[in-house]
Amino acid sequence: MAEIGVIGGSGFYSFLQDARPVPVETPYGLPSEAPVVGDVNGRQVAFIPRHGADHRFPPHRVNYRANLWALHALGVRQVLGPCAVGSLRPELTPGTFVVPDQFVDRTWGREHTLYDGPPHPVVHTSPADPYCPAGRATVIALGNVVPDGTMVVINGPRFSTRAESQWHAAQGWSVVGMTGAPEASIARELGLCYTSLAVVTDHDAGVAAGEGVTQAEVFEVFGRSIERLKVLLADVIAQLPKPDVDCTCRHALDGTAADRRSA
Ligand code: ADE
Repeated sequence: MAEIGVIGGSGFYSFLQDARPVPVETPYGLPSEAPVVGDVNGRQVAFIPRHGADHRFPPHRVNYRANLWALHALGVRQVLGPCAVGSLRPELTPGTFVVPDQFVDRTWGREHTLYDGPPHPVVHTSPADPYCPAGRATVIALGNVVPDGTMVVINGPRFSTRAESQWHAAQGWSVVGMTGAPEASIARELGLCYTSLAVVTDHDAGVAAGEGVTQAEVFEVFGRSIERLKVLLADVIAQLPKPDVDCTCRHALDGTAADRRSA
């Protein structure tokens, strides 16, 4: 029904024109919103606003498992995950797009795996390189983007203290967000290709003098970036590999108890 999924971030609540909602039930409950499916540049795309259409789910209450399961159930093979992030480096200024190549998961208390014990099998997957190489290459080729960087994911909903932020920056990490995990690793657990696209909305507290980050600033800058983001996503969608092209991401479950071929 759809081959590509987009999970919209803060302030990014609609993407498709002439889209139809396709309610999906999952073993993990309901997605943030029923996915809507429509055409973008000749490709069938399913869209879910990560926080719900009215932004009712804070980052630690997003049902990441249901969102990704629902996209997978619709036939999606590639997921694009735009998100708002703070910058941990002076040169990454608000409005910059970053294509992370690594994440550090500092979240806690989230439902972070599909393989959570009975009735689910015990499955260990590797997020060593957590993002899809083909998806990243496509975004990097088409966008005016920073082509790498580590995204540290904090639990939120509060922003970091100055000391936390300085510590994150001192590790060499580039950006800080609240939703990149467990989204990427759950996508991997489904053998989905997942590409993160981080939109810098602010300099985090450890990098900027002043009072610290505000929610208003994040929403304002993300809002200003949305048209550019939508144009880039549409270009990327047109160029993503076709579903019959193999990818390493699809082999994430090879040899595990969830590998349907070994069942
Ligand atoms: N999302 C946008 N800006 C952020 C920041 N500074 N920290 C965490 N998440 C963010």
